Amino acid sequence: MKYFIAANWKMNKTIAETREFLRNFSPAVEKVTDVDIVIAPPFTALAAASDEIQDTNIQLAAQDIFWEEKGAYTGEISPRMLLEAGCRHVIIGHSERRQYFSEEDAIVNRKIKAAKKAGLGVIFCVGESLEEREAGKTFDVIKREIESGLAEIDPENLVVAYEPIWAIGTGKTATNEQAQEVHAYIRKILGNLYGNKAEDIRILYGGSVTPDNVDSLMACKDVNGALVGGASLKPESFARIVCFKKEN
Ligand code: PGA
Repeated sequence: MKYFIAANWKMNKTIAETREFLRNFSPAVEKVTDVDIVIAPPFTALAAASDEIQDTNIQLAAQDIFWEEKGAYTGEISPRMLLEAGCRHVIIGHSERRQYFSEEDAIVNRKIKAAKKAGLGVIFCVGESLEEREAGKTFDVIKREIESGLAEIDPENLVVAYEPIWAIGTGKTATNEQAQEVHAYIRKILGNLYGNKAEDIRILYGGSVTPDNVDSLMACKDVNGALVGGASLKPESFARIVCFKKEN
């Protein structure tokens, strides 16, 4: 299975900074053929990023989407707008959106439906908080988020990202065992929904992925890529992550 490694820049980088990053980053990864390399800049920098990645092996993603096609929805961005800006994928259900913008499972599901209808690939995020993990509820939370988020969704062009909230931006990465355990569980839940097709769905790990821990995380059986925040902001650091070393 081809790996999938995406940079989630969150609310970082202007248009000029995006262009500068890509001019440094693109040559550093131009020989990579076994990883889908994806960058998710803020909305304002999408068009410039699309321009910079022409004729490269880098793909573009948005960090969010709205489900309506157009109309009186101040501040929102439609699927068609993202496609026209050059996006092939969109991140949906990130924990920061769930936490700060009250995105519940039903909203996440509507967004996924709209993105897929428009032909966008979806990077669908799930993950438990520290409190939920300590209370032994990790699997329950993951099951609920997946079953609600993916209700009536087919698995084509779908990537699932497991991001334990306690590992995001904290420098506290899940151990390989913790990641593999939840990834295997996610694969099982996806199997209940999609049968054999679940084997082909890429499951990314996210949460303090760095050049130092990427090699061993990518060696876990059910880890098929990464969603990277902080360590994706510097071209050399993200290039090292994309060029992770395969452990035998
Ligand atoms: P982090 O963020 O790599 O900075 O922990 C990951 C994410 O939120 O996607």
